[in-house]
Amino acid sequence: MGYAVAPHHSGVYPVHVQLYEAWKKVWNIKITSTEEYPHLKPARYRRGFIHKNIMVLPRQTCGLFTHTIFYKEYPGGPKELDKSIQGGELFFTVVLNPISIFMTHLSNYGNDRLGLHTFVNLANFLQTWTNLRLQTLPPVQLAHKYFELFPDQKDPLWQNPCDDKRHRDIWSKEKTCDRLPKFLVIGPQKTGTTALYLFLVMHPSILSNSPSPKTFEEVQFFNRNNYHRGIDWYMDFFPVPSNVTTDFLFEKSANYFHSEEAPKRAASLVPKAKIITTLIDPSDRAYSWYQHQRSHEDPAALKFSFYEVISAGPHAPWELRTLQKRCLVPGWYASHIERWLMYFPPFQLLIIDGQQLRIDPATVMDEVQKFLGVLPHYNYSEALTFDSRKGFWCQLLEEGKTKCLGKSKGRKYPPMDPSSRAFLSGYYRDHNVELSKLLHRLGQPLPSWLRQELQKVR
Ligand code: A3P
Repeated sequence: MGYAVAPHHSGVYPVHVQLYEAWKKVWNIKITSTEEYPHLKPARYRRGFIHKNIMVLPRQTCGLFTHTIFYKEYPGGPKELDKSIQGGELFFTVVLNPISIFMTHLSNYGNDRLGLHTFVNLANFLQTWTNLRLQTLPPVQLAHKYFELFPDQKDPLWQNPCDDKRHRDIWSKEKTCDRLPKFLVIGPQKTGTTALYLFLVMHPSILSNSPSPKTFEEVQFFNRNNYHRGIDWYMDFFPVPSNVTTDFLFEKSANYFHSEEAPKRAASLVPKAKIITTLIDPSDRAYSWYQHQRSHEDPAALKFSFYEVISAGPHAPWELRTLQKRCLVPGWYASHIERWLMYFPPFQLLIIDGQQLRIDPATVMDEVQKFLGVLPHYNYSEALTFDSRKGFWCQLLEEGKTKCLGKSKGRKYPPMDPSSRAFLSGYYRDHNVELSKLLHRLGQPLPSWLRQELQKVR
């Protein structure tokens, strides 16, 4: 029937990928159910999700367990079972859930038919005392119906299995929750995030993920479809820390910043993680991004001038509009930060001035170390040096050699033309005003580029 229940009957959440793969391969299972997502209790918040094309529906409980075989031995006496059916908990489970799925054990069916007794009586009671019309469907159709009714539940929201005792019990003993980041560098792109990354990994207690060949080294888990690969996939990018308390794992994915999904997903899996964002003047960011696209030979960026990209109207060709959106939207700083603040408290968020990171990285890195609470204190003034050939700060290696970022960072390109600058100043005006209010509310100083932009408003 395409339906199966896990060996440990709730063992489909937290997800064991191997089980999902095996089910599909061996029996072409398409549907299962769990009591555990997102938590066992309260039961009315149980949700469904789809993972690896297997539809997982929420399951309810009816009070019959493996050891509940005889009517007279029902916990608390048979009256309790009858009460539950006749207007009690089981009755309300059916009334309050549009779709109810129950499981009783074979022993109940086989030995004393307590399961049958329960559900025949429950159906009778419901038909007598309510005007609910009870219906049932075979598993595949039922699952389709479920996600037709609740399409927003299709995407799962992964949590840390170690935060919940039931989840921990179900999860494999071989697995660990230590391979999760303590902080995230969220971007946006082109604000100096790679430099920050390079400086961070110089610290003896800070460890990054291993690079992903697919996404230019970044894992990009929380923002896009990699999320659907599950947390085992994510954790495999991280080393096992030698000391969970003092080691700081982190990950930088510069597209997290403006992602609609990332804050909610990150808060669900790593709620205590610290979040670091770097901001430069959004106009400069947009221009740097455009240059980045050109050097990656993005056909649209090669075809259209910067001014054409930023000023394209609603009837411009689709490729131009798409490029424009990708270029400009990350610069709506206040809206994106507000979204992160819906899920993370302000004390977990650090906003770095990207311009300061560029000209005085040692001071910024001191601030970062303090914010993270990472030890020992690492002296960046000694470890970094200004490389005049590169024109940027770089890591100082032995014998006076330097390790700078590659050619793709700190590119040479002509300055932005004045008409584009003026256009963008106007375009970002309201966003910048909102950002200044936000920083004020957070008690944070305004970066100098923001002060300059605000002066243009007056
Ligand atoms: P440009 O290449 O436009 O100059 P990101 O890593 O987020 O993509 O940001 C790239 C930008 O980081 C570069 O943009 C450069 O200006 C800036 N940057 C800041 N500090 C840097 C450093 N030490 N080395 C190289 N680039 C740095």
